[in-house]
Amino acid sequence: MIESKRVSTFEELLESWDGETALIHRDRESGAWIFVCLHSTRLGPAGGGTRMNVYDTPAEALLDAMRLSGAMTQKLAVAGLPFGGGKAVIAVPEIPSGEERRALFLRYGDLVASLGGTFRTSSDMNTDESDMDVIGERTEYVFGRSGEAGGSGNPAPATAVGVYHGIRASLAHVFGSDDLEGRMVVVQGAGAVGSPLAEQLASAGASVLVADIDPARAEAVAARVGGAALPNDQVFETNCDVYAPCAVGGTLSVDTVPRLRCRIVAGSANNQLAEPEAAELLHARGILYAPDYVINAGGAIAIVGLEQLGWSKSKLDTALVQIGETLREIYARADARGISTAAAAGVLAEERLKAD
Ligand code: NAI
Repeated sequence: MIESKRVSTFEELLESWDGETALIHRDRESGAWIFVCLHSTRLGPAGGGTRMNVYDTPAEALLDAMRLSGAMTQKLAVAGLPFGGGKAVIAVPEIPSGEERRALFLRYGDLVASLGGTFRTSSDMNTDESDMDVIGERTEYVFGRSGEAGGSGNPAPATAVGVYHGIRASLAHVFGSDDLEGRMVVVQGAGAVGSPLAEQLASAGASVLVADIDPARAEAVAARVGGAALPNDQVFETNCDVYAPCAVGGTLSVDTVPRLRCRIVAGSANNQLAEPEAAELLHARGILYAPDYVINAGGAIAIVGLEQLGWSKSKLDTALVQIGETLREIYARADARGISTAAAAGVLAEERLKAD
């Protein structure tokens, strides 16, 4: 695994990475660097989103793609899908729009097509279903296109359903009942996942507090679901049963975990652990942590299931319920071995990657 963010050359990064193949492409027309990392094709073609962002250096973008592709290997293995892990990062001088953006995604589509299906992509940070539609003009190896273009659309509602089942499984583990009636949940991030999640939790009887860096968003979602808005800087110190991080990664650190006043952390954000020690600290404090890549897999499961595996809506619903069952298994294993839930999820991923 890559340990340091200080590594600065492509050579150092490639030597220290445990993945299979990294494709480096310089898009001269836009000045973008494109990195496609195939971390593992052990269980099938490498699947993962295409992220577009501005980075200080191309090496930082490569590092991001490498780390994210490794997380996809674990996520798709634990989700039981016949896919390996990959990720693409388009490092742009500035986020493009209009014709310039379309032209970039057409060229990127050609690049994905050239990989012949070993890499299959979907949307991620700063990319959306209209970008996937453009890529789809050049290759069939793209998920999450719009309904009009033959895709299954926005995966966020399915992600929210998976998180909902994950929260219920976590409540059952801690309290012996998955009933949401009377439980207090802090949802951080009133966006595409946080908003429908808040709605489902409130419908099931939970008291919902909504926080967002944009207070107006928090107010709007709280008003819609009959909850209350919470200032974003009070999230950690607020007494609650569940803290559901659905905004940004890195909110769980050795500094923030001691401040938490919840029994459970279970939300959609990617890369919630700012450092591995945070998982141990959660374990030591008796706070149950639902590993992010397990609980937030609903969107990936939906696009792969509906677009690639020919699933019906009811088959998808069953697969989303299964996220809760997988978490129950991880919690039981963690208890039995006295290890953190993050460590137990890692062991499960390894087992699935080693199985024939
Ligand atoms: P979004 O962009 O629709 O919503 C994010 C919300 O968080 C926005 O309302 C934004 O104002 C707020 N926010 C941003 N920074 C914040 C901060 N520092 N503190 C508090 N609030 C902040 O994003 P979406 O799609 O709802 O995703 C949320 C998280 O879940 C992200 O970490 C994403 O990577 C992850 N995720 C999303 C999936 C999906 O299907 N959309 C799938 C798997 C993971």
